[in-house]
Amino acid sequence: MQPLHHGILLLYLLLLSGTWADLEGNPLLPLPSPLSYLGTFTVRLLQTSTFQNTSFVDTEGLGFLEDIELGSLDKHTWAIRFYQPWVRPALRRSDWDTIQNMIKIYLQRFSHLINEGAMQKDVPYPFVAQCMAGCKLYPNRTSQAFTYVGYNGQDFLSFDTDNGTWVLSQDTDLSRYVLAILQNYTAFSELLEVLFNDTCVDDMEMLVQYGKAALERQVQPVAVVFARTPSPAQLLLVCRVTGFYPRPISVAWLRDGQEVPPGPALNTSAILPNADLTYQLRSILAVTPHDGHSYACRVRHRSLGSRSLLIPWGRCHPWGQGWGS
Ligand SMILES: *[C@@H]1O[C@H](CO)[C@@H](O)[C@H](O)[C@H]1NC(C)=O
Ligand SMILES: *[C@@H]1O[C@H](CO)[C@@H](O)[C@H](O)[C@H]1NC(C)=O
Ligand SMILES: *[C@@H]1O[C@H](CO)[C@@H](O)[C@H](O)[C@H]1NC(C)=O
Ligand SMILES: *[C@@H]1O[C@H](CO)[C@@H](O)[C@H](O)[C@H]1NC(C)=O
Ligand SMILES: *[C@@H]1O[C@H](CO)[C@@H](O)[C@H](O)[C@H]1NC(C)=O
Ligand SMILES: *[C@@H]1O[C@H](CO)[C@@H](O)[C@H](O)[C@H]1NC(C)=O
Repeated sequence: MQPLHHGILLLYLLLLSGTWADLEGNPLLPLPSPLSYLGTFTVRLLQTSTFQNTSFVDTEGLGFLEDIELGSLDKHTWAIRFYQPWVRPALRRSDWDTIQNMIKIYLQRFSHLINEGAMQKDVPYPFVAQCMAGCKLYPNRTSQAFTYVGYNGQDFLSFDTDNGTWVLSQDTDLSRYVLAILQNYTAFSELLEVLFNDTCVDDMEMLVQYGKAALERQVQPVAVVFARTPSPAQLLLVCRVTGFYPRPISVAWLRDGQEVPPGPALNTSAILPNADLTYQLRSILAVTPHDGHSYACRVRHRSLGSRSLLIPWGRCHPWGQGWGS
């Protein structure tokens, strides 16, 4: 199979996939054995290219396994920088070298293609093109791939891996033009399918195996409860939970031991990242001062096992220790 000239995402996908030789059916990498992963894992590769003018493009590239940043591309040399010590050993050195070279070729061709399209269609500079590609690996060794292309922050095109075709996300002159170019290269779509169907699974299994400790890392949440009084008639109880990993968590307020259902008095923030790859959130319950009820914040998280963290508000509370069940 020949390398293709107009491959949006091509080399990013190859970051996942190994080398051209893989595409010709030569298994280069031993499969990890025994297979030892449970759960579903997603690899995401992100590219952001800012086209300042026809001769100047600024490109950033990032790779993630779940929420773990695997590496990035050096802005100037497009060399891969590894952020985790276990990423480089997951593939052979020669494979990384090949991937590295391909990224460079891909980014040159990508810029060329996009600049040509922009000139053909009178697209005003500056503009931003983004690509996100990756795949999800299920415990039954099947995978599901995705590819999205964005233009100036809006969905532009995506690749439907079920039927192997590109789909418009917005209907514009430009999106139709790019779609036509991509569809002219059926070999490219076939290549994507092969990558998604086969190599995606094999290389992700390597990454998941090498990154096992990082993926299984657990850090217990720290929670505090405090109050704010925006007005004499209102008391806001704040439960601040931080420093936990992985991301999924359950935070609830108990009134006299009973969970407070969702409603206008309850306001829970989004889960936000901390700088050290842990997470935080806060849950605020609006109550009437001196209403005679007892309140506590209850936190459940994988790192706590079957226990809950229980942080009571106020002096008199029946739970005592701060740890309940
Ligand atoms: C393109 O943009 C770069 C960075 O903004 C600038 O240095 C350069 O002069 C521009 N070139 C042209 C031909 O406009
Ligand atoms: C594998 O698991 C996924 C997710 O649970 C499911 O959607 C898919 O149908 C399964 N595939 C097979 C072949 O069992
Ligand atoms: C492929 O699937 C997408 C979305 O499911 C659909 O919009 C498109 O028409 C399909 N293309 C072909 C050629 O069947
Ligand atoms: C697609 O291929 C056809 C036939 O080779 C050609 O006429 C057309 O210009 C091509 N379209 C694009 C957008 O490259
Ligand atoms: C990839 O998998 C899809 C869904 O299982 C299948 O329809 C398609 O033929 C496969 N393509 C290739 C090139 O193996
Ligand atoms: C919940 O919090 C958000 C952000 O602080 C705020 O905009 C919103 O008004 C709050 N809602 C309630 C019901 O307190």
